[in-house]
Amino acid sequence: MKLTEELRKALRVRVDYTNMTDKYIPNGIAQKTLDAHKKLAKAAHAYVAENRGKDELFMGWTELPYNQDTIVADILETAKAVRRKFENFVVLGIGGSALGPIMAFNALCHLHYNDLPKSKRRGPRFFVEDNVDPVRMKELLDVIDVTKTCFNVISKSGATSETMAQYLIISDLLKKAGVNIKENVIFTTDAKKGNLVKISKSLGGVKSYVLPDGVGGRFSELSPVGLLPAAVLGIDIKAMLKGAAYMDKLCKTADLKKNPALLCATLQYIAMNDGKNIGVLMPYSDNLKFVSDWYAQLWAESLGKNVTLDGTPCNVGQTPVKALGVTDQHSQVQLYTEGPFDKVVTFLAVDSYKEKTPIPHGCEDIPDVSFLGGHTMEELIQAENKATAHALTMAGRLNYTIHVPEVNAFTLGELLFLFELQTAYAGAMFNINTFNQPGVEAGKKATFALLGKPGYADKKAELDAAAPDEAYIV
Ligand code: PA5
Repeated sequence: MKLTEELRKALRVRVDYTNMTDKYIPNGIAQKTLDAHKKLAKAAHAYVAENRGKDELFMGWTELPYNQDTIVADILETAKAVRRKFENFVVLGIGGSALGPIMAFNALCHLHYNDLPKSKRRGPRFFVEDNVDPVRMKELLDVIDVTKTCFNVISKSGATSETMAQYLIISDLLKKAGVNIKENVIFTTDAKKGNLVKISKSLGGVKSYVLPDGVGGRFSELSPVGLLPAAVLGIDIKAMLKGAAYMDKLCKTADLKKNPALLCATLQYIAMNDGKNIGVLMPYSDNLKFVSDWYAQLWAESLGKNVTLDGTPCNVGQTPVKALGVTDQHSQVQLYTEGPFDKVVTFLAVDSYKEKTPIPHGCEDIPDVSFLGGHTMEELIQAENKATAHALTMAGRLNYTIHVPEVNAFTLGELLFLFELQTAYAGAMFNINTFNQPGVEAGKKATFALLGKPGYADKKAELDAAAPDEAYIV
């Protein structure tokens, strides 16, 4: 993608927060409330600006758009070789090691990519296995030939039960098929620590990419975690990084009127403090559907904390809800419109879809149907998006719209950097550790104990003592 300054501006993601204000919503946010939060927003902005790039604070992700030239060149070479050699590319990973690749795949590839004939695909068939459902694993193996498949094992720790169980199954199958394992796997992991580093050595050196120290899983899409799978799919990863850098540039100012991420963080912060404990993300685009899944992890794991940085109990966070326009108009929107006043709805609107899909004239004697003829499906989905925002506004519900001019690698980069910065700013406003996830770790440890991992005997005893009580089983 050739990016002139003019094109960057045309592709700029914009936030319309009209329907968050008290001018249009009773109990909406007043200008004086926003003004009263300017100081806090400025401090959050300064915190992120001062600490960007600091690995010890897990803020290395801020530099990913700028410091990966060599890695990107290497990834593009590897991707070319993978495309030449393999029929399938399977990501084994979970959480932050999977949601980014799923998002980019859905956003930037054909919606039925794996069903296209080889000649119409830019790369091998693509799968992200982010669960240990035994049926899913077995049925994946029904549709791929492991000997013709490249497995990208993504795990920072190399100790995540789900990913490592998958690795054990796959490596066993490759061995049994007489394949030299290291020919069919690529690791994305920590530079020095982590079990995948050890496994790589034992296999004689597996092609590996590094998930840098200061980049947590949910902030890793622009690292090799996301870039390698995207490059294998023929996605323009340089444009993705440029889109992120462009959003970063827009967010250099602490002026709420100019910095979209700071504005969104401040609006959400005010809303959360006013009891809006649910944040719905509703893209009007199947391509952007999985942005909601990725965002849900980013927002929930980052902000869901029980203590501030100075040790004060806080129990903050907002429950992210994934919705899809227009599909969920016919299910959840009833609740959003008439249920409790506990939500902020964020729409992702696409200004220009890559397909318009005209609706032909027909059924002229049935006005309920014939009015649709002569329009396009683009007009229909955009009208429904506007109509739903309007209906929510009329019902006094806080909502705002993030406009994506068109879905491409550049705008996806912008969007994900906007959300990452928004999350970092909101975390700074709450004065919490945005980048840890002790709640996730607790579940991982309990699983280790249940499956007999050495060193977890106490946890096992605690779990045994908490066995279901017959008195409460019906
Ligand atoms: O955001 C996170 O840090 C988590 O969701 C992790 O990405 C997830 O638990 C996987 O961890 P790992 O990469 O160590 O396998």
